[in-house]
Amino acid sequence: MELNLKDKIVLITGASGGIGTAICHEFLVEGSIVYACYNGNENKIKTILESDGINQEMKNKLFPLKMNVTDQNSVKEGFRIILNKFVKIDVLVNCAGISNERPFLLTEEEEWEKIMTVNLSSIARLCRHALKPMFREKKGAIVNVSSVLGSRFGRGNIPYAVSKAGINRFTQALATEIGPKGIRINAVCPGIIETTMSHALKSRLGDNVTDIIPLQRNGKPEEVAKAVVFLASEKAASYITGTTLIIDGGISV
Ligand SMILES: NC(=O)c1ccc[n+]([C@@H]2O[C@H](COP(=O)([O-])OP(=O)(O)OC[C@H]3O[C@@H](n4cnc5c(N)ncnc54)[C@H](OP(=O)(O)O)[C@@H]3O)[C@@H](O)[C@H]2O)c1
Repeated sequence: MELNLKDKIVLITGASGGIGTAICHEFLVEGSIVYACYNGNENKIKTILESDGINQEMKNKLFPLKMNVTDQNSVKEGFRIILNKFVKIDVLVNCAGISNERPFLLTEEEEWEKIMTVNLSSIARLCRHALKPMFREKKGAIVNVSSVLGSRFGRGNIPYAVSKAGINRFTQALATEIGPKGIRINAVCPGIIETTMSHALKSRLGDNVTDIIPLQRNGKPEEVAKAVVFLASEKAASYITGTTLIIDGGISV
């Protein structure tokens, strides 16, 4: 299906992570202009250029951008750079996130605050910046990367689970406010996806965890990325807003 994402201006946070690089790849393949935001790991963005299916035209449309989502000035400067060049932003993908693997009573307040700030408050900050140009254009799409832990399970990841539940509710509530302005916002809720983030969880749950997944395997980053581009596409997902799409091989059913 033609997604009509060619030359759309797309900002992706967490673009240097396992899922983020896959999302960048998918948008580049669709012909989008991609601002790939990293915090400390710029080298990971370069690996996108070497991945299968990326030609020179696509390479020219990838712009690495340093952005610490917890730092107001860093976010402001990132948006200034994009809007100076292209005036608008068509798609925002909030994918930056951190996790913890610790029982609640061993989780210090500082760790709690950090997870809430990176995972949840930063999304509100990025949306605030993106919505101004989107309101002007009377169109746009936002996709937030949440987690199945936002609505199920959660043992050993309480602040993470709470931050992701917050993303889900934020997505639903904001959809009601910005829908009348022509802007859609949705979330994807992945289960266990093969990236460095899921290593600690997998080692706690053990190799047999795939036995309880109806599809009998963990997910791949590109399987999340394909859902993100679908939800970002005005052509494919024109009547979808406020949804929290679970991508977990069925583990939560
Ligand atoms: N993997 C899973 O099983 C799974 C399941 C459900 C949901 N998720 C969600 O999917 C998203 C991506 O996860 P992943 O598996 O790809 O994890 P990952 O490989 O650890 O990537 C995390 C990304 O977040 C970025 N980041 C962290 N702190 C940041 C900050 N202060 N400012 C800007 N960027 C920051 C990192 O940037 P740098 O590396 O440049 O510092 C990196 O790009 C997260 O929101 C995560 O909660 C993952």
